[in-house]
Amino acid sequence: MDDSRETIGPQAFVTGFPVKHSRSPLIHGYWLNTLKLPGNYGAREIAPADFGQFVQSMKAGEEPYVGGNVTIPHKEMAFQLADEPDELSKELGAANTLWLEDRKLKATNTDGRGFTANLDERHPGWDNAEVAIVFGAGGASRAIIQAVRDRGFKDIRVVNRTVDRARELADRFGSAVTAHPIQALREVMSGAGLFINTTSLGMDGDEAPHIDFSPLRDGAVVTDIVYVPLKTPFLLQAQNQGFAIVDGLGMLLHQAVPGFEKWFGKRPVVDEHLRDLII
Ligand code: ATR
Repeated sequence: MDDSRETIGPQAFVTGFPVKHSRSPLIHGYWLNTLKLPGNYGAREIAPADFGQFVQSMKAGEEPYVGGNVTIPHKEMAFQLADEPDELSKELGAANTLWLEDRKLKATNTDGRGFTANLDERHPGWDNAEVAIVFGAGGASRAIIQAVRDRGFKDIRVVNRTVDRARELADRFGSAVTAHPIQALREVMSGAGLFINTTSLGMDGDEAPHIDFSPLRDGAVVTDIVYVPLKTPFLLQAQNQGFAIVDGLGMLLHQAVPGFEKWFGKRPVVDEHLRDLII
């Protein structure tokens, strides 16, 4: 290793296409600063056609990186190109966190851990339920379904406008997960203890459908992966109807924790200053 790397510390990246909207450099930069660690985390825009070459160069030690994050549209390819993807990413067929270890490229997916860590922090006891509603069946819903199942939910009902996409997820995850059309939402919500919006509806002040959350059981928790605005239309409605809510910002922050620890060697803390910095 050349000497400059010793003094500037480990280098990590986030790549996507586009990548300019990524909040990850702010998050990791905050932790590097507050923990006073040497190192750098930067955004690198890479077109899909160039991503394979980038990963090969990294494996060959021709890039300065010890690892990094990948976001849309590279998550599936990152998983495929990894030498040793872990079990979580294998089941999802997608990875968001890469690191070099023993000359091997390792991969995991931290979205599910971000999701559960956020709920653990903001609403302990959220998992004292058997039935969960996952609204939406896009890319973001997979890791959430996996995480909710792994936390012991026995009956996970995926509700989606295009019911075939929900069925694909039900097939992937087995008998704990069932698929339902959006028209059945009210009926399907009956007795559930957790409702998760995994669609982008309501983002940036956009319209979101009116939802009557009353079929949920008493004490149910409603959460959203959208965090701009922090109180999304789903969360506002749920709160007005007397349900507990948890915003999605913490999922973004907590999913970054395992990668930071791998690359820079110290487990960072998600604190209120970081939340204020990101919103
Ligand atoms: P990603 O993979 O990034 O999550 P996506 O595949 O476009 O993005 O998924 C977005 C989710 O929001 C899907 O569940 C989508 O429903 P469809 O599968 O039917 O497209 C859902 N969604 C987006 N706009 C919607 C709308 N106006 N009404 C209901 N669901 C909507």
